[in-house]
Amino acid sequence: MLEQLLRKKPIQAHAHTGLKKCLTAFDLALLGIGGAIGTGIFVLTGIAAATQSGPAVMVSFIIAAIAAGFAALSYAELAASIGGSGSAYGYSYVAFGEFAAWMMGWMLLLEYGVGAAAVANGWSGYFVNTMSNLGWQLPAHLTKAPVLGGVINLPAFAIIWGLTLLLMVGVKESARANNIMVIIKLSTIAIFLALSVGHISTDNWQPFMPFGWFETLDNGKNIGVLAGASLVFFAYFGFDAVSTAAEECQQPQRDLPIGLIASLTFCTVIYIIVSGTLTGVVPYTELNTASPVAYALTKLGYTWSSTLVATGVLAGLITVLLVLLYGLTRILFAMSRDGLISPIFSSVNPERQTPSKIILMCGTVVSIVAGFIPLGELAETVNIGTLASFIMVCFGVMRLRKTHPNLARPFKNPFNPLVPVGGILSCAALMSFLPAETWHRFIAWAVVGVIFYFAYSFRHSKLRA
Ligand code: ALA
Repeated sequence: MLEQLLRKKPIQAHAHTGLKKCLTAFDLALLGIGGAIGTGIFVLTGIAAATQSGPAVMVSFIIAAIAAGFAALSYAELAASIGGSGSAYGYSYVAFGEFAAWMMGWMLLLEYGVGAAAVANGWSGYFVNTMSNLGWQLPAHLTKAPVLGGVINLPAFAIIWGLTLLLMVGVKESARANNIMVIIKLSTIAIFLALSVGHISTDNWQPFMPFGWFETLDNGKNIGVLAGASLVFFAYFGFDAVSTAAEECQQPQRDLPIGLIASLTFCTVIYIIVSGTLTGVVPYTELNTASPVAYALTKLGYTWSSTLVATGVLAGLITVLLVLLYGLTRILFAMSRDGLISPIFSSVNPERQTPSKIILMCGTVVSIVAGFIPLGELAETVNIGTLASFIMVCFGVMRLRKTHPNLARPFKNPFNPLVPVGGILSCAALMSFLPAETWHRFIAWAVVGVIFYFAYSFRHSKLRA
């Protein structure tokens, strides 16, 4: 039994598996930017500034970037040398064996699946607001989940289905749609910066750290720049979905590291500039709103701004959803191929060269969750799962350097083990700043994963057969 749990997969670096190899390094970088820039910068920046970090939310973004950066470098090493659409799930399989791989896959489902449902809820809120600004009021019972007194969150349900159908059409078509929407969201950010940079008043940056570094309040809530960093970490994840495209890019060994590192670097620069500008033009105490960017522009007198920002945010969140759904389908595809979930889902549609069955299944499940369960509050729970998976990737780099010292590593981190150790420490630190309630949800998720493994995956594993 123990032998089975620890059984490792042989490395089959960049094997051809029937998926269409059509993505370029540029597509991958935009995929990473598409998956990352969204709720985190457009919504959580304001909440973190007003309630946890103050104007030092910029510092929170820098701290979160350090953890994400170490993880990105570790991902780049494994993605270039091992590849595979299962991403970190596949790396864990070769580094630690089946059980660790399953748990990693289970954490990635939290990141991609629950993350997508949570972002769909946020998208729905923006959509309903924009529609009502345009004079088109959606019936209230069609915009809320049953526990909130409605029937269904129809916009959240429908957007997931729209993107599911797009993913089924083909990966190149999906990447093209993603690229266009990424350009729209970046243009929105550029317009925001152009309009507001001239209005920055350094008075608004005083006091810079009103909540200190870290403190747990009596109500269990954590405040301070470090707690803010663990919340705004949400803005970074999504770039790692680049690694799930390993079987669909033209030159994986060269393009995956470029896509991962370029997208994360770009996002970090944008986040620091946007958060610095936002807190420079409006006192941080006023930023706890659903749309802090629109609030800032309105306050500066640009009344038409909310429509502009809404367009950017709606396009931006669609790219996040598209990339998260894409990553989710590829990870489940790899898990199904290994027998850890039903093998029905690993067939590839020969005409479109996409895994259409798993895309349909993901669309069905995520749309139901998004439409009927209010998940908008789950950002921190998604963060903890992502941080745990980043830690596993860093351990994977260290382990494989030891067990496979001669493995071809087209991208190799210098000063080993500086990068993976830095990643483990910084991601673990961010996890420790999350509130106790988030930890409880995380442990419950892990326990369900263990039960599923022993109830199904253990007995159906292909490697075991
Ligand atoms: N990083 C993505 C966002 O901020 C998930 O929406």
